[in-house]
Amino acid sequence: MPHFDFLVIGSGIAGLSYATKLALHYEQAGRPVSIGVITKVQADETNTKYAQGGIAAVWSEDDSFEKHIDDTMIAGDFMSDRHIVEIVVREAPERIHELIGYGTRFDKEEDGDYDLAKEGGHSDYRILHFKDITGAEIERALLDKVQSLPSIQIFTHVFAVDLITQHHLGETVTRYRDDIKCFGAYVLNTRTGKVEKFLAKTTLLATGGIGNVYQNTTNPTIATGDGIAMAYRAKAICQDMEFIQFHPTALYEPGKKPSFLISEAVRGFGGILRNMQGETFMEHYDTRLSLAPRDIVARAIDSEMKKSGDSHVYLDVTHCDYEKFVAHFPNITAYCSTNLGIDIRKDFIPVVPAQHYLCGGVKVNEWGQTNINFLYAAGECSCTGLHGANRLASNSLLEAVVFAHRAYLKTIEHVEQAVVPDTIPEWNDKGTHHPEELVLVTEMQRELESIMSNYVGIVRSFRRLKRAQDRLHLIHLEHEELYRQSTVSVPISELRNMIEVAYLIIKMATARRDNRGLHYNIDIVKEEVYS
Ligand code: FAD
Ligand code: SIN
Repeated sequence: MPHFDFLVIGSGIAGLSYATKLALHYEQAGRPVSIGVITKVQADETNTKYAQGGIAAVWSEDDSFEKHIDDTMIAGDFMSDRHIVEIVVREAPERIHELIGYGTRFDKEEDGDYDLAKEGGHSDYRILHFKDITGAEIERALLDKVQSLPSIQIFTHVFAVDLITQHHLGETVTRYRDDIKCFGAYVLNTRTGKVEKFLAKTTLLATGGIGNVYQNTTNPTIATGDGIAMAYRAKAICQDMEFIQFHPTALYEPGKKPSFLISEAVRGFGGILRNMQGETFMEHYDTRLSLAPRDIVARAIDSEMKKSGDSHVYLDVTHCDYEKFVAHFPNITAYCSTNLGIDIRKDFIPVVPAQHYLCGGVKVNEWGQTNINFLYAAGECSCTGLHGANRLASNSLLEAVVFAHRAYLKTIEHVEQAVVPDTIPEWNDKGTHHPEELVLVTEMQRELESIMSNYVGIVRSFRRLKRAQDRLHLIHLEHEELYRQSTVSVPISELRNMIEVAYLIIKMATARRDNRGLHYNIDIVKEEVYS
């Protein structure tokens, strides 16, 4: 039974940055510590690895913190917490210098200055990037760093099933108790099939996104909202779950999961959206045209497709400087050519919106603390207040490093107060057996995705949300029965988590009475028109 000082669930940018900071801190203080990082597949299989466009920060003299703050507030439909926005924007350059210090490369211009890109909603050039594979470069550098630090142990192919709290000691735990404590997690070793206790004085949730709740997503298969569901079951507070970001330009490849992303930086580079007739259409929706914030562009594309009945729209880069385009976007150019035979010099790129990012998650304060003592959250699974109703492009990697740092500062302050009881029981699997019909899980998953995509997508209505809620309830009942009888496994647990995440999205979308940012309910527009 592993017992750590610090348990980190997730090996993306949030988890690895936090673990690195802790390890360096105690190394410099000459104090031994144990840090366990767990990840459900191989260490680098994360949303982080697929990030393309880059990481936003005020970097050039022409730019200013005020401009980045304003852009974030505008993109978030003024629902972001301004105090948090200021923290993230002002701390950005220091955190990025640290990433560079760990060995992350960002592209430079010939004069040696960093090459700054622009994306939707940004009023200036401020996206640091490494070609169009920024996330893979950050993940590589962080994993190299972590592997050089002896106090960090990475466990791959292990799956956190549930967080451990007083509930497991037989106490009744309610969401509004302020003395709930986290003592680590029950973790399934996928190689042995056994669930072990991973006890820890403090735990960080850094489990990433929820994309697989939807049919079309840019997220890899690991993104099943596990951290949010585990935290919610442990009575953490979650918020802003209705704000699901659909990226406007995922490559149109029917049946392909995950969808390949055509970075927003391509529009920042000059790419223009066109309908199937080759006509531009963004002028009918927003003066910022193809570079309007994501919620506006995704809704515009959805509306064009609904009006015309077309399956996709196009992104036109035929007018762009080919050599420069390929230098900036080698991965996108190669993918389009190899998989769809597209020559970007003369062919348009077919694109559709796809689920991309969750703005909400486990509520944390400005130090990454949840309402559960000794439980922190950072990265996409957390809700810091930065994104409000819609995330500004390239603010996610940034939020993850800033909050990993802040959570680390609070952790080292609080860890001495943590006591892990020695009475925590082993995982109880009495009365369960290996499920014979895993096909049921696959089918339930398919139904869930279809419900969420059809009724809780870019455009919603109260009737659609009600239908989604009713259908989800049936799946929930069916799944609960299966879960109770089955030995714990990854597919069953992931589905359990996705059902809970879907429940939270529907509940919060139904409760919202105004259309803000990413949440768009046609009934509310009607009410406004007729009132
Ligand atoms: P992740 O990087 O997703 O890591 C999650 C980790 O948690 C993984 O290690 C996973 O195995 C682990 N985990 C999850 N559940 C469990 C469990 N039950 N047990 C054990 N381990 C578990 N943002 C930007 O700012 N700029 C961009 O250019 C950008 N481009 C993007 C492009 C794509 C295609 C995608 C999908 C996202 C992009 N984003 C971008 C968003 C950004 O990449 C993510 O929000 C961010 O990387 C999330 O980091 P994270 O550390 O929170 O989680
Ligand atoms: C992209 O490259 O378009 C993704 C950027 C982001 O999600 O922030």
